[in-house]
Amino acid sequence: MIHPLIEKFQAAGQGQVFAFFGQLSPDAQKSLLAEAAEIDLEEVARLSRTLLAPGASAGVDLEGLAPAPYERRPEHGGDAAAWARAKAAGEAALRTGRVAAFTVAGGQGTRLGYDGPKGTFRVTPVRQKPLFQVFAEKILAAGRRYGRPLHWFIMTSHANHVATEAFFADNGWFGLDRSRVHFFRQGRMPAVDFAGKILLETPGAIALSPDGHGGSLRALERSGALDLMQREGVDTLSYFQIDNPLVRCVDPAFIGWHVLGRSGMSSKMVPKAYPEEKVGVFCVQGGKTVVFEYSDLPMAFQREVDATGQLRFLAGSIAIHVLDREFVRKMAAGGDGVTMPFHRADKKIPTVDAAGAPVKPAKPNGVKFEMFVFDALPFALNPVVIETLRADDFSPVKNAEGLDSPKTCRDDQLRQFTRWLNANGAAVSADATGLPAVAFEVSPLFGYDEDSFADAWRTRSPAPVVSEGLYLA
Ligand code: UD1
Repeated sequence: MIHPLIEKFQAAGQGQVFAFFGQLSPDAQKSLLAEAAEIDLEEVARLSRTLLAPGASAGVDLEGLAPAPYERRPEHGGDAAAWARAKAAGEAALRTGRVAAFTVAGGQGTRLGYDGPKGTFRVTPVRQKPLFQVFAEKILAAGRRYGRPLHWFIMTSHANHVATEAFFADNGWFGLDRSRVHFFRQGRMPAVDFAGKILLETPGAIALSPDGHGGSLRALERSGALDLMQREGVDTLSYFQIDNPLVRCVDPAFIGWHVLGRSGMSSKMVPKAYPEEKVGVFCVQGGKTVVFEYSDLPMAFQREVDATGQLRFLAGSIAIHVLDREFVRKMAAGGDGVTMPFHRADKKIPTVDAAGAPVKPAKPNGVKFEMFVFDALPFALNPVVIETLRADDFSPVKNAEGLDSPKTCRDDQLRQFTRWLNANGAAVSADATGLPAVAFEVSPLFGYDEDSFADAWRTRSPAPVVSEGLYLA
């Protein structure tokens, strides 16, 4: 008798997934069926119709596109009293345990060329702490500061889940209460050929890949994380990416803007450094806040300047958000006009030929589908975009060399430590870019932002001498 799942695939025109089924061992058959069970055939059919149809990928809709408004920092003309109110509200939310940290760590880190979960990549200047440790210590320190240990949700992928959990276990969860660190896998999507047929990677395995960081919203629901948050009285999620050790994992002012604004989803922006900078851009369209990915926004828009010579589309997205728990639930449930769109990426996808022999394509032979978390923004009530300073929040490690590399990130950490010290009366000498001549390091457990650093420094007597290799902990 033919397996009902195989019948379903055949009826959907996807019978090729089981072309070699009869030749597989019982175990391999079981594993292929389990992979097939992950696939929502209706979703794949819908994506093929909408994203693969001739002309579907031609052009994005730029109709009525305008720059999104944002809350300026006080030093750039923003309302200082409103920022102070926001900070107080965020601190109150942290003190009452309403906030959890959330990291998306399911990416493949291909550009960095690093083998292993990206969070295990070592980034700090002296101790060479891995990214996960930097975040863990910031989260631990914030929990201590506000008297409420934080929950931390970490989204992994199928490829790195086991290694990620093992890394935390091997390192004693970096001092965190392990019952507050929650790992869950993101979903996967099948790759299809240009006719919409699901591709096999081997005769016994479907070409599956992570469904994008936008998949985090439904993964939070599916994994039970939202229910857990509700039981624990957490209604606010502070979202950041794995590649950015400068990020303030929980930033009271940002949380406060979100909470006071009764927002479903809030975001941080930095003014773009130059027109071609590869960051998404906050815009409004049809009354909704949207992020346009750099690759979708024509260069003419990216280069446009206003009467003062400033970039018109200035607000760069650094992928830091605050999300309301019930908004995530609504997005995960979908329906009623609420859907996270998928993006199409044409890729070279290793597959098999009709005889089951491996094929390594030289040019793109199919399509992967991914969701982006910022596509939830247009569905959010009262979205708030606030300005942040790049130096306080953003220096990602994306490439092995050049821009956004381990070197630029290390230097930005050093500049940040130097700024904190010098703001508190130390006299660390630095070059014109703020880079000190010696490499030293401040542990997040000493200070993880301006305020916590200043408080710790005040109680430190005599003040340490900054020299090569100093580790302030
Ligand atoms: C991203 C943003 C860009 C933003 C920039 C800031 C997109 C498409 N673009 O670019 O707008 O300006 O960051 O640094 O997001 N991830 C998963 N699962 C996945 C894919 C990614 O968890 O399936 C995670 C990664 O682990 C990482 C983050 O998402 O933490 C970012 O992914 P990446 O693909 O590196 O985004 P960028 O192209 O760098």
